[in-house]
Amino acid sequence: MRILVAGGAGYIGSHTIVELYAKGHTVVCVDNLYNAKLSAVKNVEKIVGKKIPFYKVDCCDKKKLRAVFKKEKVDAIIMFQGYKAVGESVKIPLKYYRNNIDSALTIIELMDEFNIHNIMFSSSATVYGKNAKSPIDENDEALRLNDITNPYGETKAMIEKILMDKANSDSKFKAVILRYFNPVGAHESALIGEDPNGLPNNLMPYIAKVATGKLPFLNVYGNNYKTKDGTGVRDYIHVVDLAKGHVSALKCYKEKKKNIYIYNLGTGRGTSVLELVNAYEKASGKKVKYKIVGRRAGDVDKLYCKPKKAKTELGWEAKLNIENMCKSSYNYENGGRR
Ligand code: WQD
Repeated sequence: MRILVAGGAGYIGSHTIVELYAKGHTVVCVDNLYNAKLSAVKNVEKIVGKKIPFYKVDCCDKKKLRAVFKKEKVDAIIMFQGYKAVGESVKIPLKYYRNNIDSALTIIELMDEFNIHNIMFSSSATVYGKNAKSPIDENDEALRLNDITNPYGETKAMIEKILMDKANSDSKFKAVILRYFNPVGAHESALIGEDPNGLPNNLMPYIAKVATGKLPFLNVYGNNYKTKDGTGVRDYIHVVDLAKGHVSALKCYKEKKKNIYIYNLGTGRGTSVLELVNAYEKASGKKVKYKIVGRRAGDVDKLYCKPKKAKTELGWEAKLNIENMCKSSYNYENGGRR
């Protein structure tokens, strides 16, 4: 297939483009480079050995995006173009609602204009809300909007709803919603990876900066949770496995049974903060200093999925383990990129 990847220069978008090419698909990459660098696209080109059509366009800009749709004939869209920092979304909610919802609506409206029916959306386990009981399967939820703890998560749930309503109104429209757990790690080439601006909010990129001496120590947010060692438990998934999940999910577009498909993408295994710290030390050979501090507002004790539906219906499952995640993260952080 030929696929327009919105937000294709970002962390998950860039890894997904690599895996799409590996399976013979081609891509048109659109990104406004707000939270990504053109060098990521160049590095993807090095990995896949092909030139990738790239447009520096904001997906909220309908006129400019229409020009891309006019020029490039595509069979499907994958949407990665949202803002994604939970804490920031609490501080500047309107920017999150405007950018995430507006860009999604603009893309879906243009799909209508250009007779494109296939879309895939990068959603998040955050839509399950704070009261979801792990392991979570796709049927456990009813989009419990009241349980979502931040505007970022609200935009994910709202876009899911928009896709569902559109699919109900249009039998040709096919939407695949992928709910990610905690994506981490980097491509084995160390050419692409996660490169957050400023102080990392998420655990693995923070550990990476401590292991490479760029930050002095990690704050561990709470050790009195009801978990194996008291620290928070999450379902970390290697970004390369996650990217492959998107490629596997393309098969939904050939299905005739329904027009909305929802899958958890995770490993189904829970890892605590301290387990991840230990694994990182082992994989990198570096010490990761940490201090136990108070809980972070909005955090839950454990969050991990039942990954069975994706395995049964898509034939996809995560293959890479915590060691692979830590090693690839360290290699990227330790100067691999360029
Ligand atoms: C993991 C664990 C923290 C940082 C968030 C979003 C989610 C998704 C991924 C996608 C928790 C602990 C963290 C630190 C720590 N977003 N921690 N010290 O909160 O599960 O999920 O990111 O775009 O939607 O909600 O991930 O990596 O922030 O935290 O102790 O410096 O690590 O308390 O237990 P989280 P995380």
